[in-house]
Amino acid sequence: MDHDLFIEAAVGRTTFDQEQVPLYYTRKTADILHKYGPGPRVHFHMGMFAAGAAPNTTVAQRVLKQRILDSQEAVLDHAAQLWRVPVSPPVSLLDIGCGLGGGSLYWAQKYGAAVTGVTVTADHIPVIADLARQAGVADLVTPVLRDVQDLKDERLYDAAVAIESSGYMDRERLFAVVAKALKPGGWFGIQEHFLCRPEWTEFVDGYYKTRLGTLSEYIAAAHAAGFELEEDEDITDRVAEFWVQSMAWSTAELEQAERRGSPSPIATDRLTESALTHGKLFRIWRDHAIETRLLLFRLGERSA
Ligand SMILES: C[S@@+](CC[C@H](N)C(=O)[O-])C[C@H]1O[C@@H](n2cnc3c(N)ncnc32)[C@H](O)[C@@H]1O
Repeated sequence: MDHDLFIEAAVGRTTFDQEQVPLYYTRKTADILHKYGPGPRVHFHMGMFAAGAAPNTTVAQRVLKQRILDSQEAVLDHAAQLWRVPVSPPVSLLDIGCGLGGGSLYWAQKYGAAVTGVTVTADHIPVIADLARQAGVADLVTPVLRDVQDLKDERLYDAAVAIESSGYMDRERLFAVVAKALKPGGWFGIQEHFLCRPEWTEFVDGYYKTRLGTLSEYIAAAHAAGFELEEDEDITDRVAEFWVQSMAWSTAELEQAERRGSPSPIATDRLTESALTHGKLFRIWRDHAIETRLLLFRLGERSA
């Protein structure tokens, strides 16, 4: 059996519960702001490090934090180059699963794009609006509460991006709605994690409430919707370090709370779980049991 078909068959997933996603993110909003804030650009995705870099983790917690935030922006800078945004910036951009809007603000501030940020988490909308005001791009960033799989927009956007959000979605529905929402010749950039070894699926999907897929599943769904794959970069080795830095930050947060004698705004059991889980995630990424990739799809002639 083809390796990817084997993985898809082995996953045999029946448990994905769409309702859990906004609940999970609503519970996490304050924690995300504490760890990755205060913004205005607040990201909730993995970050990228220089090839082979393993920066010292026995440093001040604020150094770890700055490094984490820099790495999150670094992967967006890298994606922007790969997707040729500096030479041809999109005027209108759909940011799919925009989280707290870090990416939406990034594309608006750096490239002047008018960004529609879609999230399924109601709590995020006022936070994004406030952060966009702080960043001076309230006129360019429009947060929208919607399940993107139900999007009805037609030929509105030059481009769409999904930074670590497509893993929550039915890929056939996702590519179909994006194909409709893009103008002819539009592109769709994706940063996502892909299953390579099925035995880790339940653990990662359980932790993040995702339904990760294989690369071939994505490519098949994209082709069916009229997209062609233009770029596929495996960035697994350069993002794996993120787990080590994140684990160090969570451990430092626990130690600081104990030293201060006052608890962290993030619950102690959650911090302990993060520190343990991120160690495991590092090994999963180092072994390429799951891979993180940057993809670029473009609408072919058929849809133009
Ligand atoms: C891991 S976060 C990524 C956030 C953001 N892209 C970033 O890089 O900071 C995933 C986001 O996808 C959103 N999401 C998940 N399923 C969605 C859906 N069906 N429609 C719209 N947004 C969704 C969640 O609300 C969350 O904001």
